[in-house]
Amino acid sequence: MRNILIVGATSAIAQATARQFAERGNKLMLCGRNENRLNALADDLRSRGAAQVETFIMDACDFDQHQLLLQTTLTQLGKLDTLLLAHGTLSDQSVCEHDIHTLRSELDTNAISMLSLLTLCADHFEQQASGTLVTISSVAGDRGRQSNYVYGAAKAAVSTFMAGLRNRLAGKGVQVLTIKPGFIDTPMTAEFKKGPLWSTPEKAARGIINAIDKGKDVAYLPGFWALIMLIIRLIPEPIFKRLSL
Ligand SMILES: NC(=O)c1ccc[n+]([C@@H]2O[C@H](COP(=O)([O-])OP(=O)(O)OC[C@H]3O[C@@H](n4cnc5c(N)ncnc54)[C@H](OP(=O)(O)O)[C@@H]3O)[C@@H](O)[C@H]2O)c1
Repeated sequence: MRNILIVGATSAIAQATARQFAERGNKLMLCGRNENRLNALADDLRSRGAAQVETFIMDACDFDQHQLLLQTTLTQLGKLDTLLLAHGTLSDQSVCEHDIHTLRSELDTNAISMLSLLTLCADHFEQQASGTLVTISSVAGDRGRQSNYVYGAAKAAVSTFMAGLRNRLAGKGVQVLTIKPGFIDTPMTAEFKKGPLWSTPEKAARGIINAIDKGKDVAYLPGFWALIMLIIRLIPEPIFKRLSL
């Protein structure tokens, strides 16, 4: 049985993952900013078999609350084994390109808040000599594109930070797992036209749990995105910069 903290627990991908965690009888601390949706999710997870479900209301950018979240989780669940960071916003690229206040706010939400929570939990897991850090990054962080380079830069920061943590914590009993989804049909992508490359939150959730179980370092979801992004990364910059992506 795992004791799991999920930040951004009301996200579609996090909810699907939490349902699968609950069906395995785990203990869960759900953190998010919408109390009603958190409570509804908590009730659903209890009915699915979770051993214990608690909630903590927090905006992820309220940095002063991060330590309290960890302490409260430890007090209420007794121990923490797994952290899943799932919050995020799909930044409005056209606004961020010219408005530095929006740019900073998007970087706080999609990058700095994650790095802050990772810093606290990495120290805790290092002292505990066990634990699993899971962060939902994105394929968007693998290469900057004109259509979403602010969101992509935040996800690149998260992926690089996770790679560094993995190197720091190797051999110390801590798994550091970076999830890189491609296109997943969730409220975040509601406006997008869907096609054959699209997947569902339920499949992403199965991929996350499978990657935890297998002790993976990085998981592209679905797996074919690893090949797509390899090809994209291999395109020489003089050509890539002229593409309309
Ligand atoms: N969908 C995709 O195609 C895709 C692809 C790659 C990566 N991802 C990543 O996957 C993760 C989950 O996204 P999703 O697709 O499941 O989208 P979603 O259903 O729209 O969920 C986004 C979640 O982030 C929460 N959130 C946003 N800002 C927050 C803040 N300041 N404090 C606390 N919570 C905040 C939202 O909370 P509220 O309910 O309060 O608004 C919502 O629960 C995100 O990190 C996203 O970047 C998604």
